[in-house]
Amino acid sequence: YPFWAQENYENPREATGKLVCANCHLAQMPTQVELPQSVAADSVFTASVKIPYKKGTQEIGVDGSKVPLQVGALVMLPDGFKLAPQDRWNDQIKKETSGVYYTQYSEDKENIIVVGPLPGDQNKEIVFPILSPNPATNKDIHFGKYSIHVGGNRGRGQVYPTGEKSNNSIFTSSKAGTISSIDLNDDGSSNITIQTKEGELVSESIPVGPTVIVKEGDEIEQGEVLTNDPNAGGFGQLDAEVVLQSPGRVLGLIVFFCGVALTQILLVLKKKQVEKVQAAEGI
Ligand code: HEM
Repeated sequence: YPFWAQENYENPREATGKLVCANCHLAQMPTQVELPQSVAADSVFTASVKIPYKKGTQEIGVDGSKVPLQVGALVMLPDGFKLAPQDRWNDQIKKETSGVYYTQYSEDKENIIVVGPLPGDQNKEIVFPILSPNPATNKDIHFGKYSIHVGGNRGRGQVYPTGEKSNNSIFTSSKAGTISSIDLNDDGSSNITIQTKEGELVSESIPVGPTVIVKEGDEIEQGEVLTNDPNAGGFGQLDAEVVLQSPGRVLGLIVFFCGVALTQILLVLKKKQVEKVQAAEGI
């Protein structure tokens, strides 16, 4: 969950560029983002994070039952950018964001916004309303191109903050040996006992959820899989760019283009004039 990232990591992006959600959501699935190419100062725009998966997909819940997937997302904006205040949301933004609750990552990081968990089937696209900063009023901000980091997740993670595996994981054998027994408990969990070559008995407990795919008498290697992979979801991240556009620059560009067009016209006119003179002089 996003709040586990908030509780356990001061900065959700590691030096390698990896977003910390990936530390517990080990499976990868794509995430996409739609952004304007450039935005003006002090303006509201939207980043639309897409977390696609096949509609109606189910995963195993904590108790082993089949449940629908939930989604969540994290958007790391450049310094100075933040969630747009609600009084600046237009009607379309209000419509697109209904039912979505946004949280600032931490008190001093208003440029990082997290969302989720939300029911996945209705929220495969999460719209973030963003307010751009104004270099005229904030001297630390400059016009230019900036990176935005986006992460989107669907489905349960594989590791809890304690380091323990969730039941939405593959379970493997910690030792090589022969499976001497598989005992199914009342709650659906099971214990697999492995006898090593040295005669030692090792017990592997498998929570309810994953399906045991080995049977008594099987010879297994260390690290060999004992269950299927019940996971149906995954996390994906990507980097995008947005230009904080200076109106002065846009105006400059327009003036430049007009200048170029005017020069071209004048050159053509001059040529016509020269041709007329040449015709008159009979050259
Ligand atoms: C569950 C998103 C970080 C471990 C979830 C769910 C979402 C989510 C949407 C619910 C999935 C479902 O019910 O189908 C995210 C995002 C993160 C993040 C966007 C980063 C901002 C983490 C971190 C950890 C973690 C850092 C581990 C420390 C888990 C686990 C579950 C889970 C174990 C399943 C919990 C359960 O049902 O028992 N996460 N998560 N997540 N997350 Fe994350």
